Amino acid sequence: MTPLADRFGRVATDLRVSLTDRCNLRCSYCMPAEGLDWLPTEQTLTDDEVVRLVTIGVEQLGIREVRFTGGEPLLRRGLVDIVGRTHALGVETSLTTNGLGLQRTSQALADAGLDRINASLDTIRPETFATITRRDRFADVVAGLEAAKAAGLGPIKINAVLLRGVNDDQAPELLRWSIEHGYELRFIEQMPLDAQHDWSRAAMVTADEIFESLSAEFALTPHSEPRGSAPAELFAVDGGSATVGIIASVTRPFCGDCDRVRLTADGQVRNCLFARDESDLRTALRAGASDAVIAERWVVAMRGKAAGHGIDDVTFLQPDRPMSAIGG
Ligand code: GTP
Ligand code: 5AD
Ligand code: SF4
Repeated sequence: MTPLADRFGRVATDLRVSLTDRCNLRCSYCMPAEGLDWLPTEQTLTDDEVVRLVTIGVEQLGIREVRFTGGEPLLRRGLVDIVGRTHALGVETSLTTNGLGLQRTSQALADAGLDRINASLDTIRPETFATITRRDRFADVVAGLEAAKAAGLGPIKINAVLLRGVNDDQAPELLRWSIEHGYELRFIEQMPLDAQHDWSRAAMVTADEIFESLSAEFALTPHSEPRGSAPAELFAVDGGSATVGIIASVTRPFCGDCDRVRLTADGQVRNCLFARDESDLRTALRAGASDAVIAERWVVAMRGKAAGHGIDDVTFLQPDRPMSAIGG
């Protein structure tokens, strides 16, 4: 076993695999209303190719957790099969989804061995949902979450992004609703990964603002559980067992503890969300490279991982690939 180690002593054990760059929502902080130029099918890894790379990661490179992401991974036809074959490798298997389609697929995913899901939901007001996502599908997402809960795909975590003037006054109601429904809510600071390159630090709702807004209605105390490499700082709510998380990617980066590596739907290794270089495993795979050669390329890719995302550096450049094609 060769660990996926970088020059700063970090070892990647958490693999996040984007299965498609397509999405059925159009969140304004992610992509334009008209969508993007999606990856052509021939450039997208087949189900067998995905499973082969995941198997190399698990069996040769120390990967212990696999998370499937998108775009929207429920749009991938072979998802249940990919999940089943990944689960058979003996690793924890999870999914990050927008929730649309969970009503239809939750039971099959659970049966295939999916352990849990994280879902995106920025508001519990249908009209705000339609404004942010540009689609009137709030009720479908809520029903999807219920289906996932019924299928045992938990604990379910909810990711929320707050946008100034749109839903930044809604943090407490989202938390109250999440607790009532048994979901673990986490707020994420908006990152410069939108396809439109519209992000600005001044417009971003900060972790401190989120904490303040929640504190007006709840007593938050730092959670006792050690954080490890998790992106979220956890707080206990009103001294009870419920928690809320804040993912302060921008104002309190957690890159020093990063254990993540990403694979895009077209078979490129990204050693960081903000990486400017990728390593092409798909071409090697399709040229008939052995597992050992692919594993070696992957190991080499990790050596180029930067110490941090550098968002505050004057030289910072947003990566060409947007969040929707990396998977979060
Ligand atoms: P679990 O806690 O294991 O459920 O996973 P997670 O917190 O990584 O879950 P999820 O995939 O839902 O990620 C939540 C969000 O955290 C992502 O969408 C990103 O916005 C952010 N995030 C996750 N990993 C990283 C990372 O490596 N760097 C940065 N800057 N943000 C990250
Ligand atoms: N900054 C922070 N989070 C984002 N997400 C999508 N784009 C961004 C961004 N620019 C979130 C989604 C989803 C997760 C995969 O990442 O809301 O919950
Ligand atoms: Fe890891 Fe890069 Fe995220 Fe920092 S920004 S935590 S290094 S993936």
